[in-house]
Amino acid sequence: MKVTIDDIEVEVEAGTSILNAARKIGGEVVPPAMCYYSKLPGTGGKCRTCLVEVAAGSTADPRPMPKLVASCSTPVMDGMIVKNKTSQRVHEGRSAVVEFLLINHPLDCPVCDQAGECNLQDLGYEHGSVKTRYEEERRTFDPIDIGDKIKLHMNRCILCYRCVEVANQLTEKRVHGVMHRGEHAEISTYIEHAIDNEFSGNMIDVCPVGALTDRTFRFKSRVWFLKPMEAECDCTKCAGKVVLWMFGKEIYRVTGRKDQYGEIETIDNKTAWICNECRYDKKDLAKWKVIGPRVIDRHSVISQGKYETSINSPIKKIN
Ligand code: SF4
Ligand code: SF4
Ligand code: FES
Repeated sequence: MKVTIDDIEVEVEAGTSILNAARKIGGEVVPPAMCYYSKLPGTGGKCRTCLVEVAAGSTADPRPMPKLVASCSTPVMDGMIVKNKTSQRVHEGRSAVVEFLLINHPLDCPVCDQAGECNLQDLGYEHGSVKTRYEEERRTFDPIDIGDKIKLHMNRCILCYRCVEVANQLTEKRVHGVMHRGEHAEISTYIEHAIDNEFSGNMIDVCPVGALTDRTFRFKSRVWFLKPMEAECDCTKCAGKVVLWMFGKEIYRVTGRKDQYGEIETIDNKTAWICNECRYDKKDLAKWKVIGPRVIDRHSVISQGKYETSINSPIKKIN
């Protein structure tokens, strides 16, 4: 079926969401997404940052949809006309969503490990207002250790549920979730059980903000001072295809390889989640075969002054 997004027509299969149709076009047409994660079925519909305007529902029924809709969970119809960047209503709606997300959010960017690769920081830059209208006291939580490798800063959490889905879908037993509702909702581990499962570290990679951070990397460096390098190892638990974040010859952090939407890449038809051993315990360069510099596809300060080429790919301008 055919759908037009910001005046660009694209053909997609029935059942495709507006967001994925936009990703097929790529570039500025793609709405931001903080809770949807294509590699985790069932995600989406929580954060409302992906709102778009449907100017015509379908060829059969060309009436516009009265409200902005979440593009990650609204399927396309044949002949649908969608506006994202070209809609003033979307711009205003997204600004309002960002204002809501920031109601309780701390001004932590100068000390937050996510700075430089944070979706909320990007949204705040594009849509945020200089002043807050919020007069109530912000809700605050003490940081919690989730096991010995993950630190939870609930103050920064936007309740996107991605980490809950990682635990549900990648690990054998989930011991954390969102407790309570509304103002009181929080990610918790039910009496702070440690999450000691082999793939639990992927929660850090999917968190769109700095709520879940890697305790082996916290406060060691700003990400833009590090060199991202593609590397691999023979791992019996995962594909062993990672990005090493290096300072000189030292490995400061190991993460999965993420695409321009901040999602873990699919390698050999499998989502390349990495195991905790590769993430936390292989900080010795001798344990890795370094492939070459990693091009960071997403719009990010990390790309500033860094490589414009990858030795495996043709010369490519960093966006
Ligand atoms: S989560 Fe993002 S917006 Fe929030 S303090 Fe950290 S870098 Fe800033
Ligand atoms: S901790 Fe991060 S991944 Fe989990 S719900 Fe909060 S923002 Fe989402
Ligand atoms: S990405 Fe669509 S609602 Fe969050």
